Amino acid sequence: MQIYFPIKVLDNIIFVKIFKCMQERILIIGSSGQIGTELVIELRKIYGNENVIASDIRPSCDAVMQTGPFENLDILDEELLRNIVKKYKVTQVYLLAALLSATAEQNIELGWKLNMRSHSHVLDLAKDGLIKKIFWPSSIAVFGPTTPRENTPQYTIMEPNTVYGITKQAGERWNEYYFNKFGVDVRSIRYPGLIGWKSAPGGGTTDYAVEIFHKAITDGEYESFLSENTSLPMMYMPDAIRATIELMESPSNNVKIRSSYNVAGFSFTPKRLSEEVAKHIPNFKMSYKPDFRQEIADSWPSSIDDTHAKNDWGWELKYNLEKMTSDLMINLKEKYKKFHNEQKNTDIQ
Ligand SMILES: NC(=O)c1ccc[n+]([C@@H]2O[C@H](COP(=O)([O-])OP(=O)(O)OC[C@H]3O[C@@H](n4cnc5c(N)ncnc54)[C@H](O)[C@@H]3O)[C@@H](O)[C@H]2O)c1
Repeated sequence: MQIYFPIKVLDNIIFVKIFKCMQERILIIGSSGQIGTELVIELRKIYGNENVIASDIRPSCDAVMQTGPFENLDILDEELLRNIVKKYKVTQVYLLAALLSATAEQNIELGWKLNMRSHSHVLDLAKDGLIKKIFWPSSIAVFGPTTPRENTPQYTIMEPNTVYGITKQAGERWNEYYFNKFGVDVRSIRYPGLIGWKSAPGGGTTDYAVEIFHKAITDGEYESFLSENTSLPMMYMPDAIRATIELMESPSNNVKIRSSYNVAGFSFTPKRLSEEVAKHIPNFKMSYKPDFRQEIADSWPSSIDDTHAKNDWGWELKYNLEKMTSDLMINLKEKYKKFHNEQKNTDIQ
């Protein structure tokens, strides 16, 4: 008999098999980054603090470090990875350690090595029967300049021209290969650019859409490294975290695509975002000085078709540009206010 119980993931109720949930031990690799920080916090609410092990080569924020286990893990050290998996009897791995698009372009050897080796180390854990399920994120960077840019389909021409995109495309092929040949239960999403306020972005081409909010509040102005009319697909972090957990909780039969799923988010240009920010920060000024990241952005889709994710595992977007900006502004202004008050108190002492 399967018993399901409801859990709340970022204001949404999803149903999880009760016994399964109690038995899971989850290892998050690269947990101190933009996505990992928020994912650890959400997964600990569902599975219990002790059952979600954070790991990275650098420490995380207090909300992660003080609520549950943390391991210093360089994912390139396969022996240490295996020891940690055995020590905690890990059943699921979320692999988030990677060099992102802009950073990988500046260190192509490390980009290739880190993104590929980390992936095969984790896939082999499942092949060898040590873990049961893997989440590995892909990206819209799998597409390239020859891909149709508007409403980019799930299945289309994929000729990425960045080292990051090449590793993501190779990773998707690896996923499908390990699923077909060895029955590895690996699940994946092609994230668009992700925007959150809890943690800093890690060197991607869409980072401008996070930086703008901080600079708007602190300086009242921002210089964008992408040109004003560069339209890219983006997603607010609560939606991205929910998509990830919903995909991982879906019955295996519903996960029909094992390479990686398109998820759309919403698309906007730096100019459109600056207009939205200006509604919350009067006199906000935006200027544009495109750098090397412009070429990367120009090779990516401007919007995505995610029909397969909707049909297969019921994916549904909650936030649009307006809703995201309002929510983000409230939270970020509060965060800066708290920070200033703490600084003031320290000065007085
Ligand atoms: N953030 C986005 O907009 C976005 C979009 C598409 C895909 N993704 C993918 O999602 C994943 C996570 O992205 P993110 O934005 O959280 O990245 P991030 O750069 O913020 O975090 C990555 C983390 O990996 C850690 N790390 C680096 N080398 C490591 C090593 N050798 N061993 C262990 N940890 C190591 C870093 O310290 C960092 O904390 C990546 O695979 C990325 O490609 C992110």
